[in-house]
Amino acid sequence: MKLSERAERVEPFYAMDFTRRASEMVEAGRRIVTLSVGEPDFGAPPLVREAMRDVMDGRPLTYTPALGSPALRADIAAFYRERHGVSIDPARIAITSGASSALLLVLAATIDAGDEVIMADPSYPCNRQLVESFGGRTVAVPTTAASRFQLDDAAVAGAWSSRTAAVMIATPSNPTGTTIPFGELGTICARARDRGAWRIVDEIYLYLSDPTADGMAPRTVLEVDDEAIVINSFSKYFGMTGWRLGWAILPEPLVGAAERLAMNYFLCASAPAQLAARAAFEPASLAVCEERRRELVERREIVLAGLARLGLPVTVPPDGAFYAYFDVSGTGLDSWSFCQRVLEVAGVSLTPGRDFGPTTSATHVRLSYASSREELSEGLSRISDFLSGERVPGR
Ligand SMILES: Cc1ncc(COP(=O)(O)O)c(C=O)c1O
Repeated sequence: MKLSERAERVEPFYAMDFTRRASEMVEAGRRIVTLSVGEPDFGAPPLVREAMRDVMDGRPLTYTPALGSPALRADIAAFYRERHGVSIDPARIAITSGASSALLLVLAATIDAGDEVIMADPSYPCNRQLVESFGGRTVAVPTTAASRFQLDDAAVAGAWSSRTAAVMIATPSNPTGTTIPFGELGTICARARDRGAWRIVDEIYLYLSDPTADGMAPRTVLEVDDEAIVINSFSKYFGMTGWRLGWAILPEPLVGAAERLAMNYFLCASAPAQLAARAAFEPASLAVCEERRRELVERREIVLAGLARLGLPVTVPPDGAFYAYFDVSGTGLDSWSFCQRVLEVAGVSLTPGRDFGPTTSATHVRLSYASSREELSEGLSRISDFLSGERVPGR
């Protein structure tokens, strides 16, 4: 018996590997500070938890339609209308098991063998693996601090070929927490649209962005490109990682294909999670989420100040999400060894740049500041001890 070539080729998501190692160390009795995982510590807003208790009243929780509960899809459409003034037919919204399944579904529906997909290097690792699972080729464009580690139109133009089928952008991005300027996003989308390529824009951190300098709320790509594919999730802004619920907004021609694929791949996303998630759009829940967003900004300040004190430069300060991507070249260690040693010696788990693409693989490390202020302070103090060459006693 053999494994598929796809399975042989797929690389692990190293952030998850480091987090698993951290859990094993905790089980073995060590106190570990976990800053390797992109998971807010808040949990779901109270109204959503309450709604889940109500849903668990013994009712038969049967399948929903493959693309999700019509009521939840209507709620999401109403949310976009209120937040962004865009009108979306709920039939174009696919409810999925997290943004992960939305990405899987969308790439399954759009990518054939030999197709090329342009994305930034560094960027979210699973995108690369998913594209390649479908026989596509990732064209990872090296980015620098000058473009805030995001694509710009010149870079996209330079990477374009007759096989380009899609451009993928996450804004704010994982691992850098940086946002692409909205005008640049519009220009890239217009270029891709004119050449008949899909625009797949992952907005999972959109509502965790800072307001723009002129006080504007973060804008969805749909405000400039109503046929872009949008990926989003309940995981981050709503603090519902383990609920496994997300969504994709699809251009009309993709809906039938996504529905057929969803029927075959998943039947539907979790019915109880879908029912309870409706409460996430209540004004009280959104107010809670906004408060948490502000808390994350405070945590960011702690982390940026702490890393600056330690002489670990954050190449581009984040303006959203909850990641600081810092350069460890000055320590004399490459990023992989830095993460391994900080975990083993100091008991802090971080994510090496290797996850995110070759450009910053050896030099950069991602720290997630979604953990509590206490954990962040403890983590920074342990890294400080580590850098001073001290083994942390008794930990
Ligand atoms: C950019 C990006 N997209 C998608 C995901 C997947 O999120 P989920 O499947 O929990 O919604 C993540 C998770 O960290 C992410 O950072």
